[in-house]
Amino acid sequence: MIQRWLGGALLALAVLASPASAQGTGHETLKLDAPKPKLLPTPPMGWNSWNKFACNVSEQLIRQQADAMVASGMQAAGYTYLVIDDCWQKSRDADGNIQPDPERFPSGMKALADYVHGKGLKFGLYSDAGALTCGGRPGSAGHEFQDARQYAKWGVDWLKYDWCYTGPRTPEAAYTIMAKALRASGRDIVLSICEWGNSRPGRWAHPVGHLWRTTGDIWDAWKGKKEWSHGLLDIIDMNADLWAEAAPNGWNDPDMLEVGNGGMTTTEYESHFSIWAMLAAPLIAGNDLSQMSADTRRILTNAEVIRVDQDPLGRQGRRVWREGDLEVWVRTLAGGERAAVLFNRGEQPADMKVTWAQLDLAPRLKAEVLDLWSGRRSRGVSGEYGGQVAPHGVIMVRVTPTP
Ligand code: GLA
Repeated sequence: MIQRWLGGALLALAVLASPASAQGTGHETLKLDAPKPKLLPTPPMGWNSWNKFACNVSEQLIRQQADAMVASGMQAAGYTYLVIDDCWQKSRDADGNIQPDPERFPSGMKALADYVHGKGLKFGLYSDAGALTCGGRPGSAGHEFQDARQYAKWGVDWLKYDWCYTGPRTPEAAYTIMAKALRASGRDIVLSICEWGNSRPGRWAHPVGHLWRTTGDIWDAWKGKKEWSHGLLDIIDMNADLWAEAAPNGWNDPDMLEVGNGGMTTTEYESHFSIWAMLAAPLIAGNDLSQMSADTRRILTNAEVIRVDQDPLGRQGRRVWREGDLEVWVRTLAGGERAAVLFNRGEQPADMKVTWAQLDLAPRLKAEVLDLWSGRRSRGVSGEYGGQVAPHGVIMVRVTPTP
């Protein structure tokens, strides 16, 4: 990590010295001529290569994952964007045009985008606001407009834009330049901001990007910290208080899903997916779609949990109660419905409940309660709803007021 920053500072000095670079130094750069395209009325759903494959990306892999996205039922469940993360780039040609790794992507990016589009999916790429990407490939600093034009020509629908080797650049200015470049490219492209929450992007990024990371990288573990990555509980805690900063077309991004990658139990992955839905988080699968266990597929395609994530009101849920290892989360849905999660972070089963007061419902109001993991439906419920929650598990419900 230290190397990332030191290297960043040195490289950024080199970039600043280059006349071709469009640096975010003045007020001018913060003016956006075109409004942000309305591309994500609900949080995006898709797949990204990084969590499972890291730098091991190729056109075969992307075609295989595109095929699997369709064959597995993921596309039918709503997953649309297929994003290649770091390491697809190799170099720039004599005119500065970014070149994909010719060994790994011999058919080129246009052909790959066409293939993905042919499946009814959308195609995404990754770059970085510094001189280099986190994986040491060429970044977009000083090449923003040229790269955006190239992406548009290839048929790119999504750009994840990272923050390694950015030295003294400021996130708001740097991301605004890329937003301008994308809007001038002639193609609607989602801008996925990835500066790890450093500058609290929820406060400035609404006019600029469609989603923004709120933390360092997720780590496929229940809790704890490993270098710049955080386990599930740590990521959840860092996101719990950011609910006011999300809205349709501008979402908090607690990072991609680890469901199916093997570092957590099935129960923990159900909790992961449930809390992401409460956070109105992007649901970007990060596993191998061609090798999914029945449990992984069942979790990622749970239609009722996805329906909470995709609720059209677009209001992020909140943690409203916490005592020791036990938490209650609530989310207001469109049409007066509510979602709730009873979350047991502890090692023992726990009897838990959500009260109508926590849901901001009148105490005597009758409701139908649907348990989203068991499918059990209870009618005529009022005042509270609860049950026994497994260690590291959740009960997640949809509460529908009834006349
Ligand atoms: C950073 C990002 C990750 C991933 C890697 C790629 O760490 O936060 O999501 O894109 O870079 O190198």
